[in-house]
Amino acid sequence: MKFITVENYDKLSRISANIIAAQIISKPNSILGLATGSSPVGTYKKLIEYNKNGDIDFSNITSVNLDEYVGLDGTNDQSYRYFMNDNLFSHVNIDISKTNVPNGCAENPEKECANYDKLIEELGGIDLQLLGIGLDGHIGFNEPDNCFTKETHMVTLDPSTIEANARFFASKDDVPTKALTMGMGGIMGAKKVLLIANGKNKKEILEKAFYGPITPEVPASILQLHPDVTVVYSEN
Ligand code: F6R
Repeated sequence: MKFITVENYDKLSRISANIIAAQIISKPNSILGLATGSSPVGTYKKLIEYNKNGDIDFSNITSVNLDEYVGLDGTNDQSYRYFMNDNLFSHVNIDISKTNVPNGCAENPEKECANYDKLIEELGGIDLQLLGIGLDGHIGFNEPDNCFTKETHMVTLDPSTIEANARFFASKDDVPTKALTMGMGGIMGAKKVLLIANGKNKKEILEKAFYGPITPEVPASILQLHPDVTVVYSEN
């Protein structure tokens, strides 16, 4: 594992965007696993800049996102599909039909989850998976549990996750309580993993995840078993 500590969020975003840009340049038809939340916003801004400068080309890229809230469709500005369109896809030359986010409004969520895993398998797995980390150690929405779940599945969000994500909604009561998330199989099957985190409040969970015991109570700790993980962290 490479653990890179940098001075600030701007540097974190540049390093993370550079790692993704290198992936796109070396394999223009890469399968990128993407994340939402506040951590990757700066990374996506830089990628948009590199695309506009002509340095990277998204036309042959396929993306698979980690997760989506149950009950929110892509027109809801709090959905992760909306977030991805707004923060990245609408501003780069990606083919929108090659962007994938689990459908949180699927009539049959179990089938949706099984299809998502099938899709990842058919794509040949993820080349580079971008991750953030929750204060409870979640990756995607794989919340602390007594076992690691391999498949894409529906989860009940941890109260601490609902609390943390309430900042994006009008009130805590508006935060959906369930989500669909890629499981550990998809994440651990990625050839490379890039985890980004910023803020003093993420320090303790990063220490637990990467230097503590491997346990489903700290879901990100499973990444200690992955052969190619880069963590980029800035305290500010
Ligand atoms: C989002 C996701 C989550 C976030 C995590 C950190 O797609 O999968 O695991 O990465 O909740 O969120 P931020 O970056 O907002 O601190």
